[in-house]
Amino acid sequence: MNTIPPTACPAWKKLEAHAENWRGARLVEIFANDPARATAFATAMPGVRLDYSRQRVGALTLTLLAQLAAERGFEAWRAALFAGEKINATEGRAAGHAALRAGDAAPAEVRDTLRRMKELSEKIISGKKFDRIINLGTGGSDLGPRLVADALACVKGAGAPDVRFVAGVDPRELERALAGARSDSTLFVVVSKTFDTQETISNAKIAKEFLKGKANLYAVTANQEAARQFGASEILPMWDWVGGRYSVWSAAGFSAMCAIGSAAFTEFLAGAREVDAHFLSEPPERNIPALMALLGIWNVNFLGAATQAVLPYAHGLRLLPAYLQQLEMESNGKRVDREGRETGYATAPVLWGAEGTASQHSFHQLLHQGTQIVPVDFVVAGIDPLLDANAEAQSRALAFGTAGQALPPYRQYPGNRPSSTLCLEGLNARNLGRLIAAYEHKVFTQGVLWNINSFDQWGVELGKQLAQDILKQKA
Ligand code: F6P
Repeated sequence: MNTIPPTACPAWKKLEAHAENWRGARLVEIFANDPARATAFATAMPGVRLDYSRQRVGALTLTLLAQLAAERGFEAWRAALFAGEKINATEGRAAGHAALRAGDAAPAEVRDTLRRMKELSEKIISGKKFDRIINLGTGGSDLGPRLVADALACVKGAGAPDVRFVAGVDPRELERALAGARSDSTLFVVVSKTFDTQETISNAKIAKEFLKGKANLYAVTANQEAARQFGASEILPMWDWVGGRYSVWSAAGFSAMCAIGSAAFTEFLAGAREVDAHFLSEPPERNIPALMALLGIWNVNFLGAATQAVLPYAHGLRLLPAYLQQLEMESNGKRVDREGRETGYATAPVLWGAEGTASQHSFHQLLHQGTQIVPVDFVVAGIDPLLDANAEAQSRALAFGTAGQALPPYRQYPGNRPSSTLCLEGLNARNLGRLIAAYEHKVFTQGVLWNINSFDQWGVELGKQLAQDILKQKA
């Protein structure tokens, strides 16, 4: 597999020279000179449209970025991902998340598990034994199912249980989730791939005490023996070939399935599967995840952006930035490449963001008039003209500012600030699956171009170890 650092690729040098031409270029003039730009710099797949016309790119930029991808061996890496090769080299594992949503083509163990999840969740919903489900998990064992349950709260049928999520080690968080709960009608779903994560296990112990011997505790884990010993009454598997932050499609999504119903969960998987097919087959200029990745690389490595904002204009997507923080920064927040060399070039930017429109009355001041250039992903869902209009207004103000208006300096908006808009045709399970899978493949593509392993997370280990040591010293 290709191990040439991106900076040694001919396209990298060309992009550096090309970026010089873009330093003085102004979006306001570019649009004035090219009336077709808004449609030319956009692409779509069913349910999702990406408008990147307000990025600071031209046709040549995209050609060179695609060339960089080719020189980095992108197609071979993508094939290796889908073939289940052990591309997570430091852990000797595959990154098999796409197999989780492959439908009839999924491995038998995946299909069996989905069947079991469906049976259990339908029994829970129709049996009405549980009026509350509390998901105990953290990181990938929390953020994905939490996002899905929250985003699709509207598809919840009458009588569906109240599904809550507890992620932190402060017991007061679980206490709050338990307010008013009864032990006979509360189900805990302990989600932990390793079944030894401090936060999750300490919460699970409190849950056990709360249950006073009742068998209302399910486990979702790759460490089935530990879950059995803990006393889980039902165990659903996770596998070592799926990373935590890529596991929402698996039994890690069980609590979400209980919240939205198995039919919606099936739709969610189907949406992701469509993106897998799109990502595998479309050329870079029409490939939404690949384009998102290339634009990100351009902004970070050639235009010098240090952060990336994600602004969902839909209340249901308010948790998207938190989800993407783990997905992007735990995957690509790396400073050595696959050969163990210091990269010497920037990798993942700091990802941050919040739900619009509330964010407009908070940090957008910096986006519009601050000294840092922050590329923005607007995510709109076509569910409310007021929301969509606000997202469009923000994107326009960033791109064009107050060009041509005579204003005092403090009222001027410099403009020329890049953004993309991802438009979903409605906020439903299928589009949510499409959205998350698109970001997953964006992250994978960037990892390939940066020559880093996106599927390990050694940077979280030292803190865990030190916390244990500190605790022991205090005991
Ligand atoms: O510590 C980081 C991490 O390993 C994440 O990658 C993972 O999603 C999270 O912790 C939870 O891990 P587990 O599912 O094993 O409890």
